[in-house]
Amino acid sequence: MSKLRARGYQGTVITASAGNHGLGVAAASLELGMPAAIYVPAGADSAKLAAIRATGPTAELRPVDGSYDDTERAAREASAGGSGGHFLSSYNDASVVAGQGTIALELLDQWPEVEAVVAPVGGGGLISGLGVALGALAPQVKLFGVEPEASPAMSRSLAAGRITPIADGSTSIAEGLVGNLDSDAITFELARRYVSEIVLVSESEIADAVAAVYLTAGLVVEPSAAAAVAAVPKIVSAHGPRRVACVLTGRNISGSAHRELVNRSLVKPSGYDPAPASVGAGPTSTQQ
Ligand SMILES: Cc1ncc(COP(=O)(O)O)c(C=O)c1O
Repeated sequence: MSKLRARGYQGTVITASAGNHGLGVAAASLELGMPAAIYVPAGADSAKLAAIRATGPTAELRPVDGSYDDTERAAREASAGGSGGHFLSSYNDASVVAGQGTIALELLDQWPEVEAVVAPVGGGGLISGLGVALGALAPQVKLFGVEPEASPAMSRSLAAGRITPIADGSTSIAEGLVGNLDSDAITFELARRYVSEIVLVSESEIADAVAAVYLTAGLVVEPSAAAAVAAVPKIVSAHGPRRVACVLTGRNISGSAHRELVNRSLVKPSGYDPAPASVGAGPTSTQQ
């Protein structure tokens, strides 16, 4: 948004988000004094909606009944019609991807010995930024993406060799990772180039990982972040890296939803089971 401002843009920034990107846009809108309209699915986590609302008067929250894909359609229509506004994609934007890449710079600075990086994948902006930065600075580091089985948009596209839609309206507790890729998503080619493999994780693996991160590290993370942790046993089992960094991308989850996931994991007979499931070779080997 500061780049838009530097180019002289004076209008509204319009975005669609499952919550976290919207929160970032709201914060930038306040800091830069740029008006923003943030479209989110009405069923988004209440903590995310409350945080966006609390950010301040420059950002207007516009909840949309329906899926993430419905939400993005509504935002794009608003951007194209009426008083218009610049549509800022949460992933299909070179500046957003570059911003995400700075995470890899911090990581390499803090842990130069890292052997593998694992990150959740929604539209692929994060994994693309990590890939570009690691590819330039530490190409020996393997990069793994993680998607919910319920929404494998990137892995299915990589398997097909072109951007391939998945069923509209799929749902996952990792709601930040749900949705289709734009037909011109820049993240597809970047993921193809830089990502070793996309691992798929089930809903119960994601839920158990939320609990495991809390019970072992004392950290509250939301399911979209915990998905990366859920994939680690599979990655270690299949590829054997010893020094693995997981990008814990968010902690925006209501207390009640987090408590429920932790309690559910505690009362399950098996508890959290980090035993590796099967992973084969290639970008889509875990797809089911
Ligand atoms: C918590 C969290 N992690 C990861 C992602 C994935 O980011 P990307 O869409 O850039 O792949 C998102 C996207 O909204 C998210 O909310």
